[in-house]
Amino acid sequence: MKSKPNLKTKIAELEFKNPVTVASGTFGSKDEYAKFFSYEKLGAVITKTVTRKPRTGNAMPRIWETPSGMLNAIGLQNKGIDDFIENKIPYFRRIKTHLIVNIAGESVDDFVYLAKQLDGIKGVAALELNLSCPNVDKGLEFCSKSSLTYELVKAVKETTALPIFTKLSPEAHDFLNVVEAAIKAGTDGLSLINTIRGMAVNVETMKPRLAKVMGGLSGPAIRPIALRYVYEAKSHFDIPVIAKGGIATAQDALEFIIVGADLVAVGTANFVNPYATMEVIEGISRYLNTHGYRSIAEIRGKLKTEKTNTMGTTAG
Ligand SMILES: Cc1cc2nc3c(=O)[nH]c(=O)nc-3n(C[C@H](O)[C@H](O)[C@H](O)COP(=O)(O)O)c2cc1C
Repeated sequence: MKSKPNLKTKIAELEFKNPVTVASGTFGSKDEYAKFFSYEKLGAVITKTVTRKPRTGNAMPRIWETPSGMLNAIGLQNKGIDDFIENKIPYFRRIKTHLIVNIAGESVDDFVYLAKQLDGIKGVAALELNLSCPNVDKGLEFCSKSSLTYELVKAVKETTALPIFTKLSPEAHDFLNVVEAAIKAGTDGLSLINTIRGMAVNVETMKPRLAKVMGGLSGPAIRPIALRYVYEAKSHFDIPVIAKGGIATAQDALEFIIVGADLVAVGTANFVNPYATMEVIEGISRYLNTHGYRSIAEIRGKLKTEKTNTMGTTAG
């Protein structure tokens, strides 16, 4: 029998037992998935976004299934940071895996406040800054301009000793400049990608399927786009990336790892198959064994490309 390949992955000072985690907002808010498997098997758990004050979210209907994906306009529904610290952290603290807390706010002050509340709390390994929610007012503002991204990331970095991952949107038109700003401001990693705005219409009623009209598209439909953004970020900058966008199988996760992703997060797929993360971990090990690799480091970022022109297409 072959020995188990080494899936360990290091980012900043954190060592992850394997590179598989879950995308914010797709894994309940506490123990919803614990009846399927032990969270300890994951490389990390990333929480649903936590905000300063409780939020009830947007009006219903706020989800709609689409070909190879879904639209959501949940609107960051959560019970707020006080409830999170009192009722969720003690639960996660007992679980032997890293907890990455996703936070969002409407101002720099909100983000700084949240970072301050979480700094030094036992059981919190890192923060993910949600600069890219398309479903709330001003949700995309902080990643739409590199100067705003810089200001926000720098302020949070100066507030906390925790590693931070900056979650960006493919809708940031100035993407590479925004990435550069986040890196200059001290982000420890990127989280790519958030959902992409889309919509659907009921032709019988002539009404939009979502009360908010537009929602964020996620799932396999966006995987090639996510892959492209992770590839672009990794080809331009030496920065750790938590990749997400349509990852449902080990094959999907491997595509992201081969273009350079450090961690891979399963999102929408959790709704369809609650065991998806476990299957991804097993599938990655199987792939490494079958191909004679002893560790995940041997394939990370090893995409074989021909010389390309600036459009990303093969030259000639
Ligand atoms: C129902 C739903 C809720 C989400 N909630 C959040 C959230 O609270 N915070 C956040 O940063 N991203 C949120 N996301 C975005 C995901 O974390 C992820 O970035 C995106 O869905 C792409 O990954 P996927 O295609 O694997 O789902 C949500 C996505 C879905 C489908």
